[in-house]
Amino acid sequence: MKDHWKDYQARWHLLEAPLRPNQEVVDAITLAVGGETSNVLLLGVTPELVEAFEHLTAVDKSEEMIGALWQPSKSTQTVREANWLNMNDAFGPYSAVVGDGCINALQSADEIERLMRVLKARLLDGGRFVCRVFERPDEPITDEDLLLSIDSAAHGNFHAFKWQIAMSLAEQSGASVRAVDILASFNRLFPDRDRIAEKTGWSLEVINTIDVYEQSSMSLCFPNRQEFEQHFALGFDEFEWLASGTYDLAERCPIVLAKRAAKH
Ligand SMILES: C[S@@+](CC[C@H](N)C(=O)[O-])C[C@H]1O[C@@H](n2cnc3c(N)ncnc32)[C@H](O)[C@@H]1O
Repeated sequence: MKDHWKDYQARWHLLEAPLRPNQEVVDAITLAVGGETSNVLLLGVTPELVEAFEHLTAVDKSEEMIGALWQPSKSTQTVREANWLNMNDAFGPYSAVVGDGCINALQSADEIERLMRVLKARLLDGGRFVCRVFERPDEPITDEDLLLSIDSAAHGNFHAFKWQIAMSLAEQSGASVRAVDILASFNRLFPDRDRIAEKTGWSLEVINTIDVYEQSSMSLCFPNRQEFEQHFALGFDEFEWLASGTYDLAERCPIVLAKRAAKH
């Protein structure tokens, strides 16, 4: 089995929104963090978010992702190689925690619940958790929907389409999806990549980024709104949902703004 994130960074330049945060997303996250910027924790090493916060600690468990993407521009920005789920009192406290798609990168609903409890412990009173998520729709996405959307040109870019395959599988498997199953489903539904490239205008190079899932040991999670809210309630007293922009699949990629209550 391969370590997904080790191979992923080599394809980074081929990724775009919804996979990576564009300026609209960065602006929305920055606005939601508001004035809570004195000590920000970033889950991952997303370069666009590193740029947005001057006083920042990035935490990522992948040496390869850190090596490829970590390029701080300020002396007040540091990185630590660690698993988010194991962050103890040696981390923080933080005024805000930010992330892009990081909840979806966890392996199971159990891990999401553990992360919520960890974040609660790592945030200052009044602190904020602001994160873009990929949200599975309530209405299941069927194979027929996927096939039709290619034919009707309603497919969006390749990454938006790939997430819809993943969301369709998540409906059947209880939110968590194995990366190898996303690839298998794509290959089963669309065995002729040249034809798909011609029909959609996606380049073969971009379509082939899905091969990073070959023999991957990774799973991804795609909770629906209700499942996300059950998870957030374990760590936060209040939360709200914000729109994240106008890019392909943006309607399925809202930003959660969760607040840790200030003690009175
Ligand atoms: C933030 S997520 C999602 C990618 C995101 N859309 C972006 O543009 O950066 C990807 C990162 O999370 C890291 N990661 C995943 N699970 C982790 C965990 N449990 N602890 C620490 N880092 C983790 C991976 O190594 C990878 O660098």
